[in-house]
Amino acid sequence: MGHGVQFIILNSDEAFGKQLRTTLHRMDNVRIVAEVGEIALVRQAVDQFPADVLLVNLDPAPEAVLPIAGEIASANPRLAVFAVSESKDSELILKVLRTGLREFLTKPIDVSALSEAIERVASTKVDTVSRGRLITVTGAAGGTGATTLATNLAVELAQLAEGRVTVVDLDYRCGQVATFLDIDATYSLADLAQAAEHVEQQMIERTLVKHASGVQVLSRPATFEQADTITASACVGVLSSLLQCNEYVVTDGPSRFDPRGQSVYDFSDMNLLLVQLLVPSVRSALRTVEALREAGANLERWRLICNRIGLESVHLSVADAVETIGLPSFASLPDDWPTVSGAINLGEPLLSHGPKSKIRTAIADLASRLHKPQAGGDDADTHKKGLIGRIFAGSS
Ligand SMILES: Nc1ncnc2c1ncn2[C@@H]1O[C@H](COP(=O)(O)OP(=O)(O)OP(=O)(O)O)[C@@H](O)[C@H]1O
Ligand SMILES: [Mg+2]
Repeated sequence: MGHGVQFIILNSDEAFGKQLRTTLHRMDNVRIVAEVGEIALVRQAVDQFPADVLLVNLDPAPEAVLPIAGEIASANPRLAVFAVSESKDSELILKVLRTGLREFLTKPIDVSALSEAIERVASTKVDTVSRGRLITVTGAAGGTGATTLATNLAVELAQLAEGRVTVVDLDYRCGQVATFLDIDATYSLADLAQAAEHVEQQMIERTLVKHASGVQVLSRPATFEQADTITASACVGVLSSLLQCNEYVVTDGPSRFDPRGQSVYDFSDMNLLLVQLLVPSVRSALRTVEALREAGANLERWRLICNRIGLESVHLSVADAVETIGLPSFASLPDDWPTVSGAINLGEPLLSHGPKSKIRTAIADLASRLHKPQAGGDDADTHKKGLIGRIFAGSS
């Protein structure tokens, strides 16, 4: 079922929002694609984001929210609208159901009642086409090697996958994925983002550039001006369209300064957080993880990758990084400056530039463990074998 059931949330109560996010993020078949705090913004969110469920918190003013929720429900028959309230008033429940809303849930949310409601939506989904998996690579600090990993991981996955593989450059302003693969793109993410509500297959075909290795590339916008127009919702819309025709979509970024990044993290099946064994890098990773936890993200979909091992690991070990940051390590990548810098300068993937190099072998191994989770889980350091399999199995 790919990304399963996609949620838009209307809620202005911060404490309830956190509980709800935490509950939903724990469900493997659920993705939150947008959250809005005001009823006035809901229609726009429903138009922009691909969603199956709109969950509205009726409190504190059900009479203000209900009529609009009802109008949205009748205008969007494929969208299931769930209402949540602390009230158990039977009049209100009746009103909710008469307004055309699909479910009424009382606070505190009963997880099994919510799961059953989601299951009902999942079982009636018309769109049962199996979708690909989204893997996001984020550098804990600048220059950690995120573009190197994202680009080469996508190239390696393209060798393993039966379906298509696309790498998307989400470093909107300064992304270098096209440079790493020596590609000239006429169109970019900005062109697809303009029509994110219904990106047509033909548009996707025109925009992606196919590299000799088989991977397809969606480049960053040409100008800063275009880069700054891409909204979080448009980006999720584009990724959602790409996932319908790809076995894997790998993103480089979003850049760590980008507040729009959270929706991409939440939408991803797997987030790889890249660090180097340097105190500032580990500290930045910890800050990222703390912010994610605070936002109610599902950290089970996050893994640590230590890059450039063998160079800086004088005072810090992988085990130190794992312990400090609190994420399991999925892989460690060796330091290999001559091979990596040579590949970058020539615009070649490691697959062709240094097929036998240690760094290429490590990324190819990482790709095969993501592709065939049963072949191995996390690093032995973290004793969590098989978890990756569970995560990916849950979303397929
Ligand atoms: N495993 C490695 N061994 C040696 N050098 C590496 C390795 N990985 C990355 N590098 C080097 O680190 C530098 C930064 O790499 P890269 O551009 O992939 O990082 P980034 O995290 O995408 O940076 P930015 O924050 O600028 O987007 C490059 O010069 C690259 O050659
Ligand atoms: Mg980069």
